[in-house]
Amino acid sequence: MERRSFLKTACRACLMGAGALAVADSLSSCSPAVARQLAYSPAVVNNQVEVPFTLFEKQPLVVISPAKYEYEISVEKAENTYKALLLKCTHYDNQLTPTGNGYTCSLHGSKFSKDGVVTKGPAERNLRQLKTETLNDHLLIYL
Ligand code: FES
Repeated sequence: MERRSFLKTACRACLMGAGALAVADSLSSCSPAVARQLAYSPAVVNNQVEVPFTLFEKQPLVVISPAKYEYEISVEKAENTYKALLLKCTHYDNQLTPTGNGYTCSLHGSKFSKDGVVTKGPAERNLRQLKTETLNDHLLIYL
């Protein structure tokens, strides 16, 4: 199993049992912020995912993990606009890990700001921003 898959599976596994959040809080690899966000795993339909606006009631930035999709997506609300970033390293496509103020790649150490801008290489390109559309009570993200 690849390291990326193992870490993703391990984080999900620690969320599934009784008292999962307490366990997640005690694991350094599963910060409370990441654990809370990974709980939301919308289905991918026609290469789109729906994110309810209620997810942003407590925090402006959430990371979602679409079902059966290889990468997570960060979605940030600012005023009434939303910015969705694909958390796929632009160096060699590794899944990125959210940190307190951005994203880091465990493969070769690239770092990206919360806005998806490269702050440390070897990656040279910023993160891909996904097209979004607001509908009644949710955000539509085009993958
Ligand atoms: S794959 Fe992310 S830095 Fe190389």
